[in-house]
Amino acid sequence: MKYIKLNNNLEIPLIGIGTNTFGKVDNQYAAEINYDTKELDTAIQVGYRLLDTAIAYRNEEVIGLAVEKSGIKRSDFILTTKLPGQVGYIQKNEIIDAVNQSLKNLKTNYIDILLMHHPWDNNEEMLSVYQVLEEFVNKRIIKAIGVSNFNNEQLKYILDHCQIKPAINQIASYPGHWQDDLIEFNQTNGIVVQAWSPLNRVTFEMKNILQDIGKKHDKTWAQVILNYQVRRGVVVIPKSHRLEGQKENLDIFDFELSPEDINRIKNL
Ligand SMILES: NC(=O)c1ccc[n+]([C@@H]2O[C@H](COP(=O)([O-])OP(=O)(O)OC[C@H]3O[C@@H](n4cnc5c(N)ncnc54)[C@H](OP(=O)(O)O)[C@@H]3O)[C@@H](O)[C@H]2O)c1
Repeated sequence: MKYIKLNNNLEIPLIGIGTNTFGKVDNQYAAEINYDTKELDTAIQVGYRLLDTAIAYRNEEVIGLAVEKSGIKRSDFILTTKLPGQVGYIQKNEIIDAVNQSLKNLKTNYIDILLMHHPWDNNEEMLSVYQVLEEFVNKRIIKAIGVSNFNNEQLKYILDHCQIKPAINQIASYPGHWQDDLIEFNQTNGIVVQAWSPLNRVTFEMKNILQDIGKKHDKTWAQVILNYQVRRGVVVIPKSHRLEGQKENLDIFDFELSPEDINRIKNL
């Protein structure tokens, strides 16, 4: 595994695992939680240590259970969860309760990374939520705070008014929607970008091109995308329910894309 250092010096893996359908009946996002940790068990066994969940996924407890069952030290994991945007969680006590519930669900006394899941329409309200999260960092209950789905203006507002800079912005970034300008803005401001749904929205035509690039290195279309992202410092959180997929998505550091290949990928 390779790591990247956040602006607060916390080191996190460049590859994590998305979990938004894990521990749910038939692996359906909106289905009931069944507390089945099988996908997480294999992910942890093959080496994933960055686990990405959210209050909205309703499965924090499943993640907590899998970490506990693994027998691996809590401090070896980086657990990310996310506070929902503007659907409640406005008052300070609501945010405090939500964070305390996440701690309980994850069976831990600290959270590595807590993100605001979505930006708010009202910048001042958005900032007031962020400020409560800053207090948790000051109390060392949360190690790193960040945001998700924030554009340049929303980020700039937080940057202009915060005491603790966001460490991460988790955004959509995949072929055809790389979001290069947003990535550059984040990176220029010392904010690490995490790409969500890195593999989910790839068309058949794109897969053919990526497969053609991967052939030279004996790699798959998915591995080409993940390699492209991590080589430019973007953390990826692909999700696979299959052991083979989970392994494949970790096995991406042993090849180098040529400048021509990079151009083709950029232009997908
Ligand atoms: N912050 C946000 O607003 C936000 C939004 C969306 C998602 N997320 C996070 O990002 C995570 C990842 O996004 P995602 O779950 O939408 O999807 P994803 O990781 O982009 O893609 C998942 C799909 O790709 C397939 N897949 C995975 N590895 C593969 C491989 N090596 N070869 C071929 N197919 C492969 C999976 O099928 P198999 O299971 O059959 O392998 C699954 O259908 C989420 O789980 C969540 O944690 C965050």
